[in-house]
Amino acid sequence: MPLVKMNDMLRWAEDNNCAVGAFSVGNMEMIIGAIKAAEEMNTPIILQIAEKRMKQSPMHLIAPMMVSAAKNAKVPVAVHLDHGLTFECIKTALEYGFTSVMLDGSLLPFEENIELTKKVCAEASRYGATVEAELGVVGGNEGDTAVHKITCTDPEKALEFCEKTGVDCLAVAIGNAHGNYPVLPELRFDVLESIYKKVSTPLVLHGGTGITDEMFRKAISLGIRKINIATASFDALAMSAKKYTSTVEKPDYFTLSPDMADAVYENVKKHIKIFLNK
Ligand code: 13P
Repeated sequence: MPLVKMNDMLRWAEDNNCAVGAFSVGNMEMIIGAIKAAEEMNTPIILQIAEKRMKQSPMHLIAPMMVSAAKNAKVPVAVHLDHGLTFECIKTALEYGFTSVMLDGSLLPFEENIELTKKVCAEASRYGATVEAELGVVGGNEGDTAVHKITCTDPEKALEFCEKTGVDCLAVAIGNAHGNYPVLPELRFDVLESIYKKVSTPLVLHGGTGITDEMFRKAISLGIRKINIATASFDALAMSAKKYTSTVEKPDYFTLSPDMADAVYENVKKHIKIFLNK
């Protein structure tokens, strides 16, 4: 099964009234675990990495591994740049064969976000790649020290933004945040519903870690077609390493590595089941 465009998956999700899981990866074990879960569930999947995470997982190492994993998978896999902040990083990801890129202009003034998103759409179209943008501000942070204050997406602005940019999918802010929620978030489904009624562009939910199954299902019923999961997989991997190293006298990488991949596999599989309404 080839490396595919994210757009094709979003259409599939729309037709099947479900969402595609976009799972962040940072190393080989995470890629192996995520692909194994998707193959077992026989479902499309998105592998993604954020620009800020490339401090730990440099683009020239992680990108070829992600693209190769996609090309060799038994299910459709899209490879996505999450939270692209610079045009240079977006261009490089496209050159490495990413089939989708996100331009995160959410902290820019509205008009500047539109202009930069249009520039990214023009560049991505040269590669036939999909573009995600963000409007409003998702809370928490994505590999940053600054914690962003949530600003919900304005449904009117979302319509104007999608019409002016022609973006393929839009990340919305509805009370969601990156990282572990200190308390269960109260997602603004009323805001999501008004966006869904106005905008035909597929919608994306960031900050998936810690959201309940019921909330995921409700979000999907209101037009969410891509859901991002990062922290839960990174935590699962780190916890598996902690558990393993605390139980043996002499830790052995060749046992630890499949353990870490398995921890990510379990987390990805659990989320895929919810996103497919299974
Ligand atoms: P979490 O880290 O909360 O799962 O968020 C993932 C995400 O939205 C990545 O962009």
